[in-house]
Amino acid sequence: QILFDNYLENNKQKSKPHGLYAPIQYILSLGGKRLRPLLALMATEAFGNKPEDALPAALSVEVFHNFTLIHDDIMDQAPLRRGAPTVHNKWDENTGILSGDAMLIQAYQCLESYPNELFVKLINHTSKTALEVCEGQQYDMDFETQTNVSITDYLKMIEYKTAVLLGAALQIGGITAGASKQEQNYLYAFGRDLGIAFQLKDDLLDAFGDADAFGKQVGGDIMANKKTYLYLKSLALADGTQRQNLEQYFSTNDTSQVKVDAVKIIFSNLKIPELTTNLIREYHARAMENLAAIDSENKEPLLAFSALLMDRVS
Ligand code: IPE
Ligand code: IPE
Ligand code: MG
Ligand code: MG
Ligand code: MG
Repeated sequence: QILFDNYLENNKQKSKPHGLYAPIQYILSLGGKRLRPLLALMATEAFGNKPEDALPAALSVEVFHNFTLIHDDIMDQAPLRRGAPTVHNKWDENTGILSGDAMLIQAYQCLESYPNELFVKLINHTSKTALEVCEGQQYDMDFETQTNVSITDYLKMIEYKTAVLLGAALQIGGITAGASKQEQNYLYAFGRDLGIAFQLKDDLLDAFGDADAFGKQVGGDIMANKKTYLYLKSLALADGTQRQNLEQYFSTNDTSQVKVDAVKIIFSNLKIPELTTNLIREYHARAMENLAAIDSENKEPLLAFSALLMDRVS
């Protein structure tokens, strides 16, 4: 963590034009959990490499992630991120679009310090992953107005918008350490399953989290009619009246607290928080199986870190 923070600190943004670089500095300095770079560093260490060697790749993944957050917050009309105003809220949407674009380019630039062969491998993974994230984000938005979304559709959507990036962060760490293709695949699968558990937890916290700890607007997914597991599982279990109410609430542009509270009561009555927690555990267990399959003496940090993630409140 300290290693990464120092490296980030030494990679300061240019100052001019201020309107382009200040928002980048802003979002990066708000911190966050630094989950993806830490996974990359731990993966590289698991294969006997110095974490320093993976720092540029780790920064690349974190800059890419922060770019997606700026654009995601515009798409989701989110007012808060990491307990502070979102970029488009503090500046405006155009600023968020361009600063985000610049960050995507910076994410690629971070990789330029690697020797050619490694550079090409890293670029290939980054590009593939980045496109999948776009696909996931498109499904996420499409589903807001689609009424026949299945739980399978939802799981695929979160795999793309969130889980593949965690998988890629781990695999990239493995690549910089020269891990075999098979070990890379296990690393990726570990990250993907952990990522699905992670997004399920994010969706749970979005409705039932503590506003101060979460750092994002609680209830935002309900306001935006997001077809999360919480909603889809509720529909599957609802009686006639509950179903009618849910469908009614999720077919309007109502963003009121009244709607959020009413939907949360239905979720609670149907024991949705408990059911979501069960599914989170299932994906976490799958992730652990993939971690167990990795042939390395130094997996403890990855194990400890993924356990921490399951109990997160932010
Ligand atoms: C937020 O990611 C976006 C999701 C995939 C849920 P994080 O929860 O990792 O955000 P930060 O970086 O810690 O703020
Ligand atoms: C985020 O999904 C996925 C990406 C940023 C690519 P969410 O929209 O659920 O993330 P939060 O809740 O805004 O962090
Ligand atoms: Mg969002
Ligand atoms: Mg979103
Ligand atoms: Mg969310």
